Amino acid sequence: MTAASAPGKVILFGEHAVVSGAVALGGAIDLRARVRMEDMPGRTQIDACNLMLRGFSYDLVSGQVNSTEAANATRYISAVLKEFQARDLRVSVESGIPVASGLGSSAAIVVAAIAALNCHMDLGLSRKEIASKAHEIEKAVQHGLGSLTDTTLATYGGHCLVSSEIQLIDLPGLDLVVGCTRRPHDTMAEVERVQSLHRRQPEIVGPVFQAIGAISSRAESLMREQRQGELGELMNINHGLLEALGVGTRELCELIYAARGAGRALGAKITGAGGGGCMIALPRPNGAAALTVALEQARGTAFMVRTGCDGVRVEG
Ligand code: PMV
Repeated sequence: MTAASAPGKVILFGEHAVVSGAVALGGAIDLRARVRMEDMPGRTQIDACNLMLRGFSYDLVSGQVNSTEAANATRYISAVLKEFQARDLRVSVESGIPVASGLGSSAAIVVAAIAALNCHMDLGLSRKEIASKAHEIEKAVQHGLGSLTDTTLATYGGHCLVSSEIQLIDLPGLDLVVGCTRRPHDTMAEVERVQSLHRRQPEIVGPVFQAIGAISSRAESLMREQRQGELGELMNINHGLLEALGVGTRELCELIYAARGAGRALGAKITGAGGGGCMIALPRPNGAAALTVALEQARGTAFMVRTGCDGVRVEG
């Protein structure tokens, strides 16, 4: 029996602008997907029945597994097994990463599955090869989408700067509270909407993208120097610019204002494509618990995360 786990991710700054070449900053988070492989001569079976989410109460947390979620996990695992012509296996998947929320759950499942198979079948893949295969497979399952950021962070962990290429960077971890709207989002639809706005209003949207890119670059040094107050300020500005691009929703905004109000967050913003999914908030020192309560009171599902955690690892 072999098992491997890989982390989810948050985009800290720069979403959408990065699609047009601006810089974005992302970090792996300490929510993980785990994949276990056991020999099962004559059969191949995928159990995606333990997708209960730690500290997270998506609608499916009632003892019942949401079948869409299980079906999604199964599609990614099947693609990995097919790619490596693996059979006679029992594969079990469990994940603490909410799906369709911009937290990199599918990338984590694919990376963990490849790493578990690598070990089980003695494939000899390097980390670089795991990352690149994972990106290829995620992209194929998602019909050409699939973010390089997600598979890179699931493989290597830590933080990264994204522009035309991805650069892993060494930064101190950040404690955040994630607030989830419980509404799944559609990355492709949101990206297309923003890019279409850019095509229609290039003189206006271009500078918005530039400002977002400048925020990401500035945020890197603020994170390094652990200047949380200024980082929070940049989160608020970045959120305002994402609103200007039209990816906010009433539910997301309610969570943002709850975080800044009763939650006394230093800053709060959408994370990922928007249109649903999640927001992140930076708590004051010792303020994470109160912030979590404020988000729950605003009808979100909230959990604390730390960025910069380990990438994929083989687990006993
Ligand atoms: O899928 P998400 O929610 O992590 O969003 C991806 C971030 C975008 O910048 C909107 C798209 C991209 O490919 O970078």
